[in-house]
Amino acid sequence: MKKALNDQVALEGLASSSYLAMASWCEVTGYKGAADYFYAQSDEERTHMIKVIHYLNDIGATATIPAIKAPSGTYKSLEGLVKTALKNEQTVTKAIHKMVELAHKEKDHSTYAFLEWFVNEQVQEETKFETVLQKFDLIGRDKIAINEIDKILAADAAAPEADPAV
Ligand code: FEO
Repeated sequence: MKKALNDQVALEGLASSSYLAMASWCEVTGYKGAADYFYAQSDEERTHMIKVIHYLNDIGATATIPAIKAPSGTYKSLEGLVKTALKNEQTVTKAIHKMVELAHKEKDHSTYAFLEWFVNEQVQEETKFETVLQKFDLIGRDKIAINEIDKILAADAAAPEADPAV
């Protein structure tokens, strides 16, 4: 269980770093709203990573701070980038679900309860990116449409994030 939790620290760290790369790409490409959105997303992943680190330390299983491999920094389009983000989240969701199964099998009730927040968070995260992807179908993919989507992402970035536990 401790190994799985430490692996999760690395996975959340990788997510933070890959959203940082996405934010930076958006910034240089001229998608200011999307850049704000992904910078905020990167910060959020860092808080997830720290949540797991605190938990590991609290249960007396010292967390390992991982080396994080460099994410890809180039994307073909904003839509392609969001598709990659959704895929990242689906990978994280799978890892969380596997940990829930392991906690259940090992009768590790504390970790099982700890993971509940992450299970709910992943539902929100996947829905968030699916909703962004729907915008390309609804609004379009030409320059005016992308500018509109960029504005929506700017507004999202400025809005406070709902806590999944509430
Ligand atoms: Fe921390 Fe987006 O999963």
